[in-house]
Amino acid sequence: MSKNYNQSPLPFQGQKRRFNASFKEALNEFKTAPVFIDLFGGSGLLSHWVKEKCPDATVVYNDYDNYSARVANIERTNALLAEFRVILKDAPVDKVISKEAKAAILKAVRREEKRSGYVDYITISSSLLFSMNYATNYDDLAKQTMYNVVRLNDYQPAPDYLEGVEVVRMDYRQLFDRWKHVSGAVFLIDPPYLSTDCGTYGNYWKLANYLDVLQCLKGTSYFYFTSNKSSILELTEWISKNLGGENPFSVAKRVDMNARMNHNAGYVDIMLYKKSPQ
Ligand SMILES: C[S@@+](CC[C@H](N)C(=O)[O-])C[C@H]1O[C@@H](n2cnc3c(N)ncnc32)[C@H](O)[C@@H]1O
Repeated sequence: MSKNYNQSPLPFQGQKRRFNASFKEALNEFKTAPVFIDLFGGSGLLSHWVKEKCPDATVVYNDYDNYSARVANIERTNALLAEFRVILKDAPVDKVISKEAKAAILKAVRREEKRSGYVDYITISSSLLFSMNYATNYDDLAKQTMYNVVRLNDYQPAPDYLEGVEVVRMDYRQLFDRWKHVSGAVFLIDPPYLSTDCGTYGNYWKLANYLDVLQCLKGTSYFYFTSNKSSILELTEWISKNLGGENPFSVAKRVDMNARMNHNAGYVDIMLYKKSPQ
């Protein structure tokens, strides 16, 4: 029997782990849907949950960032982290590491990349760089100041995490075009946030890109994720009220999740979902 994951097995900025209970509950309304398409799959967490709740449905995960390769290489990443722990055994925790230790770490990374052809830079970054800083390749990593924030435990291998899920990799528009006419299809739409740092995603999203995504909501069944930082709901409401036209969220159900960044700054993560009448 495969394991159920409450969060993605490796670090992923923007994963929807806090929607675990409410997303699964909302899925009860979509139990008979034949296919779910996770247009912005990220860590695949939503796809994993859908497969768990609706095992007979086809689940298509758009693995735009090649997260599945990171998952497949967990053992390799653990071995590298074990080497870092040895190199840093006398280094003070949370402090900048010495030049010698940095050189030894980079040497281990270089050697691993040469040997196996794969290094999960995002995961090792979370053990070496200041919080929320990520490198995506060797040169990037070498440029950064390193800290001794090495994780003490191994990551759990997750061979069953994407079991039964169909993995594809393409621009979301291409994937949407493939499925938009399929009756009963449900789209999972969790685009990069407009006003957050999209550093690890490798490309930057401006307002026009963000608005383009709204076209996937017209006449479809969907789950859409956003936050009050992006103002997209305010914008669509204002446009439909003052300029006419349909608000794509008008009859959607909404779930809010309060997120706290520190004791005085917070924001609200929002999930909207709608079942289109067939
Ligand atoms: C907010 S994250 C999705 C998080 C995901 N729901 C999870 O729980 O892990 C947005 C994802 O969209 C990806 N992305 C960016 N541009 C894209 C595009 N043109 N087509 C498809 N995915 C894209 C980003 O790389 C990122 O993985």
